[in-house]
Amino acid sequence: MHEDLEKIVVTAEQIDTRVRALAAEISRDYAEVGELTIIAIINGALMFTADLMRHITLPVRLDCMRVSSYRDDTSPVQKPQIIDTLRLDIRDRHVLVIDDILDTGFTFERVMREIRSLRPATARFAALLEKKARRAVSARADYVGFDIPDEFVIGYGLDFAEHYRNLPYIGVLRADCQNPPEWS
Ligand code: IMP
Ligand code: MG
Repeated sequence: MHEDLEKIVVTAEQIDTRVRALAAEISRDYAEVGELTIIAIINGALMFTADLMRHITLPVRLDCMRVSSYRDDTSPVQKPQIIDTLRLDIRDRHVLVIDDILDTGFTFERVMREIRSLRPATARFAALLEKKARRAVSARADYVGFDIPDEFVIGYGLDFAEHYRNLPYIGVLRADCQNPPEWS
């Protein structure tokens, strides 16, 4: 375990097992429509999207959306902004938006509003993690990897001030490692 962590919440093995199960479920759910357009919310959803995609057995199109949400600390912004949007045309397509974590729901709300305005055939949302305790707006993911307690987590794509995204597991950051003076 990385020394800045208090504990591991989801191991690499648990992620792998769950990601395969989700990919199987998604492949079944979209089997009839035959093709899927995945929209990854970067940077956080990068690892989850890459791993999920390679276990999906249908033809997949991929695009990314960049949303500003956290700055260099652990509190969310209420109005996330889309700072880089889609290149693909998603009109009449079956869209699955993928994010790392569904927390307050502000990002979900902003992104799904944008997606729906582009008139896809269907639009669903997948999140690797969900913190139900922190929901501030109504938001429901169609696919969820793990329900986790209200603690700030990092790893497997999730960062704190751009650190720790490369850890292969998900863990809770030690309190004394949040806002270290050398990062300001
Ligand atoms: P929401 O808008 O509050 O639902 O938060 C969604 C975004 O906030 C996610 O895509 C993450 O980038 C970030 N986020 C929320 N909780 C955490 C956390 O515990 N660790 C790291 N990033 C988080
Ligand atoms: Mg994110």
